[in-house]
Amino acid sequence: MKEFDAAEVAKHNTQDSCWVILYDHVYDVTDFLTSHPGGSKIILSLAGQDATEEYDPVHPPGTLEENLKPEAKLGRINPKTLPKKDETKEASSSNEAALGSPPLESLMNLDEIEEEATKKISQKCWAYYFSASDDMKSKSFNNTVYRDILLRPRVFLDCTQCDTSTSFLGHPVGIPLYVSPAAMARLAHPDGERGIAQAAAKFGAAQIISNNASMTPEQIVEGAPEGQVFGWQIYVQNQREKSVTMLKRINAMPKHFKFICLTLDAPVPGKRELDEKGNFDRGLSVQAAKPGGEEKRPGGGGVGQQLFWGTAADLTWETTLPWLAEHTDLPIVLKGIQTHEDAYLAAKYAPHVKAIILSNHGGRALDTAPPAVHTLLEIRKYCPEVFSKVEVWVDGGIKRGTDIVKALCLGAKGVGIGRAALFGLGAGGQAGVERTFEILAAEMATCMRLLGAKNVSELGPRFINTRRVERDIYDGEPGLDKRGLWQRAKL
Ligand code: LAC
Repeated sequence: MKEFDAAEVAKHNTQDSCWVILYDHVYDVTDFLTSHPGGSKIILSLAGQDATEEYDPVHPPGTLEENLKPEAKLGRINPKTLPKKDETKEASSSNEAALGSPPLESLMNLDEIEEEATKKISQKCWAYYFSASDDMKSKSFNNTVYRDILLRPRVFLDCTQCDTSTSFLGHPVGIPLYVSPAAMARLAHPDGERGIAQAAAKFGAAQIISNNASMTPEQIVEGAPEGQVFGWQIYVQNQREKSVTMLKRINAMPKHFKFICLTLDAPVPGKRELDEKGNFDRGLSVQAAKPGGEEKRPGGGGVGQQLFWGTAADLTWETTLPWLAEHTDLPIVLKGIQTHEDAYLAAKYAPHVKAIILSNHGGRALDTAPPAVHTLLEIRKYCPEVFSKVEVWVDGGIKRGTDIVKALCLGAKGVGIGRAALFGLGAGGQAGVERTFEILAAEMATCMRLLGAKNVSELGPRFINTRRVERDIYDGEPGLDKRGLWQRAKL
């Protein structure tokens, strides 16, 4: 294989001849520039250089082979010719990490874990994870709405026993928690999605693997214990064959993958200003390749915009569910339901659809969309039969064990954490995610004991007072086609 000097590679730094070094190899990516889902600018900003550090955390293995022609791999780089890394900088930052990190057990709650992660992860990673749409109202309301639900503890009951186990779609889980399909875990820590999976396994939690995971699904589930529940999130791609190929890979792992989670709340990403702004701060102001030959990206294209590139926005009830049924026998979980009308519609597709997730995408899609708690209450009010047709899961804003218990009391069967798992990873890799689960599991058990509930099936509306939240939920026309059988159910 031909060997190149760094100086030779450095000459190919334009849109007419663009080479990059990745994992000690030299690639000619000139033809690929305009079809890069992340846009050409980001490649051009690294043209002629070693791009491995930028590339690696956001691309699962196999990406190069899938996207570049074999002849694009030109040869090896002579490592002696590469500029020396700033070793002093590396040594001091790892020292800082070693000396400055508090023991994970001393982080008492999810806010403290987030604070610790924020110190450790890159600005780009933080902005991508933390960001939400517009004024970030839905993001914060997702959390604060739980504070407005009060608990109703019963006393003088034996609370020595407490069992947090339950099941998702008939599969046993140790706690009613799943990790939401949050993207790009290796941006936070090299343990990545696999570290999250291994932490989840210790608590019997489920995991929905993101369509935009930074590791392959095969890597993430490898060696997972018997019975650990995984789902795979699909963002259907404009190039449908890409999605079909992925579905084939998931179908081939029936031991691990128990469902497909179709995300509906973000057919296009919301306007995430922190994420988009960071793009400019990182100096990505280089001209895009062939201006006009490439569609303009809103806000210059933050990480979110890059990930959403190529995602289909033309999905419908009528066309997409039959299409999915053609390509997988796995049950479908519809994620992103935000009104009782859509919950009711989804339930009509049972048993193909086995669960719905009430979610506003962590406030990252439509700002001021309702939190899952509102949608739960709406369903209870207008069409409670939904709960008997499909499992109802919720995500968004979960930070306390009491939040989990409240959602369960309202009829949720499962509760998802997205950012919390990523921040756990950022704070301490797999061990940080374990600490996140440990906190939530312990808080949940304490809450159940103090309420006087021995197990998850005992949890119900009698343990909560939701009057304050009910005041704010939708009170308009039911808008449901129940063929004259509709009855307004009392809460
Ligand atoms: C996001 C996507 C990728 O919200 O789910 O960033």
